Amino acid sequence: MEFSEVVKRRHSIRKYKPESIIQKEEIDKILTAAMYAPSSNNSRPWEFVVVYNKKTIEKLKNLHPYASMLNTASLAIVVCGIPQYEDLTKGYWQQDCGAAIENLLLEAANSGFGTCWCGIYPSLNKTKEFQEVLEVKSIPLALIALGVPDEEPGTKGFFDKTKVKIME
Ligand SMILES: Cc1cc2nc3c(=O)[nH]c(=O)nc-3n(C[C@H](O)[C@H](O)[C@H](O)COP(=O)(O)O)c2cc1C
Repeated sequence: MEFSEVVKRRHSIRKYKPESIIQKEEIDKILTAAMYAPSSNNSRPWEFVVVYNKKTIEKLKNLHPYASMLNTASLAIVVCGIPQYEDLTKGYWQQDCGAAIENLLLEAANSGFGTCWCGIYPSLNKTKEFQEVLEVKSIPLALIALGVPDEEPGTKGFFDKTKVKIME
């Protein structure tokens, strides 16, 4: 698929073919894309928790009010921020992780998988509970459901001229 086609075809998928097996190599490819994202001062302030365990996925689902798509997802990836990795520049870790997340979503779409980005930090006051379930000290920022799509989402994105200011 052409890159711009991948960008346009990526959509949040909330229904997946249950019990689909996704090979670890596929996940490595997706995480490679995530880790190629730019980051402030190349601090790479992230870690990725890949959750295959169904009981743990269920626990994560119960911690999040808008993540019921995990019912059919093959796995979840939780993108966690590590602000301590920021050395010279401070306060950019959320932007850095956002770039990694978008790369992850696009590579997943490129590989034929569906994803849904569910925000955790700072909207959910449950960071501690996510940290406990995932056994991490980093800050769980986004919960990504991943699986084989079982729905065709409508097109949502569009080019909106009113959001562009041109200074010549
Ligand atoms: C920071 C962030 C948090 C989001 N949280 C949720 C969520 O909790 N549950 C959900 O179903 N979708 C969530 N989404 C997905 C958005 O609803 C979705 O991206 C938006 O409606 C546009 O649709 P599209 O992804 O299909 O283009 C989130 C997206 C972002 C970027």
